[in-house]
Amino acid sequence: MKRRALVTTGLAFGAGVFIARRSYAQGGTLNLYSARHYNTDEALYGNFADLTGIKINRVDAEPDPLVQRLKAEGDKSPCDVLITTDAGRIERAREMGLLQSVNSAVLAKAVPAHLRDPDNSWFGFSKRARVIFYNKEKVTAADAPKTYEDLADAKWKGKILIRPSGHIYNQSLVGSILAADGLEKTEAWAKAVAGNLARPPRGGDTDQIKGVAAGQAEIAVANTYYYVNLLRSKKPEDREVAAKVGVVFPNQANRGTHVNISGGAVAKHAPNKEAAVKFLEYLVSPQAQRYFAEGNSEFPVVAGVELSPELKSLGTFKEDQLNARVFAQNNAEALKIMDRAGWK
Ligand SMILES: [Fe+2]
Repeated sequence: MKRRALVTTGLAFGAGVFIARRSYAQGGTLNLYSARHYNTDEALYGNFADLTGIKINRVDAEPDPLVQRLKAEGDKSPCDVLITTDAGRIERAREMGLLQSVNSAVLAKAVPAHLRDPDNSWFGFSKRARVIFYNKEKVTAADAPKTYEDLADAKWKGKILIRPSGHIYNQSLVGSILAADGLEKTEAWAKAVAGNLARPPRGGDTDQIKGVAAGQAEIAVANTYYYVNLLRSKKPEDREVAAKVGVVFPNQANRGTHVNISGGAVAKHAPNKEAAVKFLEYLVSPQAQRYFAEGNSEFPVVAGVELSPELKSLGTFKEDQLNARVFAQNNAEALKIMDRAGWK
């Protein structure tokens, strides 16, 4: 996620919410709460307005404050559609009773079953894989870890970079390992990985990749789009970072690589439900999939959508088919495991 101050577009809050709700409920308008802010947004939303005549009012904010705002507004909320990154966050919104189930044949057909809520309360619209990077000068492709489990090997002592346990991407990853390997093995794995770290965890995913490129460690774990954004960067120094690291899609010989989503859902009290469903269905159209995924160099969820050359250069890979709700619900347990392991 890019850090950004709270920005409110087109909607007033506090006392203004009631006015907004009344005037927007007439149709032709959609109120979107989004935790994604990218340079393809204007094309993504403008195209929807062109196709449907429905104007989008956006509230852009960081994911957790956005969900808190939705909760605080209760049944007076003008929110029609919520978009967040990471299944853990949108699942939390579902557990808080802030979302509603959507019965759409279009969405059920387009979004693979493991990337949507089993009760259709949320849907993945783009996906990111959490993968392993290695310094190509220090590690050969043959020697690089092949699985998440390999990160626990003593040969990587003092050589791994990964961001703090408090970050939801790691909670979802460890949640998926917990589902695959069980509590006892995941506990031992987390202890070993915490013991293999090159330094106390700090920074975001890009910092881990840069650390490995700079030779501060040999191995990093990060989401694919951070790497692809470096590949696509206008800054030569970013592209140099990307050139120094190799990519491993873990667990190709067994369950597949952990994949997370940017998800969308219809809010429980959506004043414009019909427009909201229409918008989610629009998001699985090929053109919208390109805008939505490419804005952050993520993979589209819909099969057959054209990829950017940089994304295409990653090749195809086997995905863990574990339903995103399962690893999302494992977030809290995963954090406890990492805490006990001394993973800061
Ligand atoms: Fe991110």
